[in-house]
Amino acid sequence: METRNVIAAIRDGGAVSDAALEAFVKGLADGGVSDAQAGAFAMAVLLKSLAPESRRALTLAMRDSGQILRWRTDRPVLDKHSTGGIGDCISLVLAPALAACGAAVPMISGRGLGHTGGTLDKLEAIPGVSTELETGRLQRVVEEIGVVIAAASAEIAPADRRLYAVRDVSGTVESVDLITASILSKKLAAGLTGLVLDVKQGSGAFMKDLGAARALAGSLVETANAAGCRCSALITDMSQPLAPSAGNAVEVAEAMRVLTGTVEGRLAKLTCYLGGEALYHGGLCDSPESGVRQVLKVLKSGQAAEVFGRMLRALGGPVRFVDTWQRFLPEATIIREVPAQAPGFIAAIDGEALGHAVIALGGGRKVETDRIDPAVGLSDILPLGAEVVAGQPLLRIHASRAAHADAAEAIVRGAIEIGPAAPAQTPLVIEHVG
Ligand code: URA
Repeated sequence: METRNVIAAIRDGGAVSDAALEAFVKGLADGGVSDAQAGAFAMAVLLKSLAPESRRALTLAMRDSGQILRWRTDRPVLDKHSTGGIGDCISLVLAPALAACGAAVPMISGRGLGHTGGTLDKLEAIPGVSTELETGRLQRVVEEIGVVIAAASAEIAPADRRLYAVRDVSGTVESVDLITASILSKKLAAGLTGLVLDVKQGSGAFMKDLGAARALAGSLVETANAAGCRCSALITDMSQPLAPSAGNAVEVAEAMRVLTGTVEGRLAKLTCYLGGEALYHGGLCDSPESGVRQVLKVLKSGQAAEVFGRMLRALGGPVRFVDTWQRFLPEATIIREVPAQAPGFIAAIDGEALGHAVIALGGGRKVETDRIDPAVGLSDILPLGAEVVAGQPLLRIHASRAAHADAAEAIVRGAIEIGPAAPAQTPLVIEHVG
């Protein structure tokens, strides 16, 4: 089938064969499909959707467009993927915890996307750390230490790299079919045994409503399982930041507190829930609940922290980071409190706006080439429902320039609503899918 006919068939809601989708994806990877055709394809899929079998065929073809990792280890190969939120530094805690529980964890992660922070940017806030590894090195680190958090190399799912760049500038990022194929092509190419998905829902998430979160979670879980990767999803609350900080170094500090003894709060809880699911998919426990207990144990015993320290050293980080992390993290020159202007309760938090405040501080990118300032961000963010008196700090701004702090303060003031009563609390885990 010619490329134009594949696009027209999808545009008209018709069927396309697996072979036609495979040929299209091959053209994405080798340049046989033009940017105009890739954009038209993405728009046709966004408007008309694919049948589940076609979504699966597209995902597998994108997986097969590049290198597929094979592992020389007896450990189950496990990973977690989050759809992105504010104050979400779970990966930094969960990846070493899973490795400490007996899994191999090639956590191929991303940089900041839109208003959300990226795991690689957070990890690189630690002096010396580089997350750009060629594939052979990535595999050696996982096989020796049990875990690596690193960027996808150019050899993994090159068709996705091409299609994603086109989607980004053509208003077609939002398609559930295309998000599914994009995320899973990279995860399946990493040769996973099992995968747990954290699908965020709420003001700080891309999915603001539950229906959209359910649709994405269902599509991801069905497609991954059909491709032979055991998978489930938790739909989780993002109506407030997960940890009370947002930024890069400030989130590393949150992760280090959990890894070095403060195993409490929403960040630690969700890490354990997601970890329990992943360990269960890998056959390392007989139920997700017993997996939760295993994760808790390696966090409390310091085993997860020890693995994290070894991984950091392999990535070029400081030798004694885990013991003395406070000494190493960059600090902003300006720390400004934002006081409550009236007494009451924290009634609503616009998480997306908090993400934009971090970008205004220089902690995220406006364009792809922007350099991140790892020291800036927000900390001590009060949770939903907290009672405040007038003048009490709602959060602290960490800035490198007064003008940036002013811009962030203006955003933050509009993002936190104080009302006469505490709002009803949404559970941390809203739904289990799969
Ligand atoms: N992350 C991805 O890797 N792809 C998408 O399409 C969306 C988020």
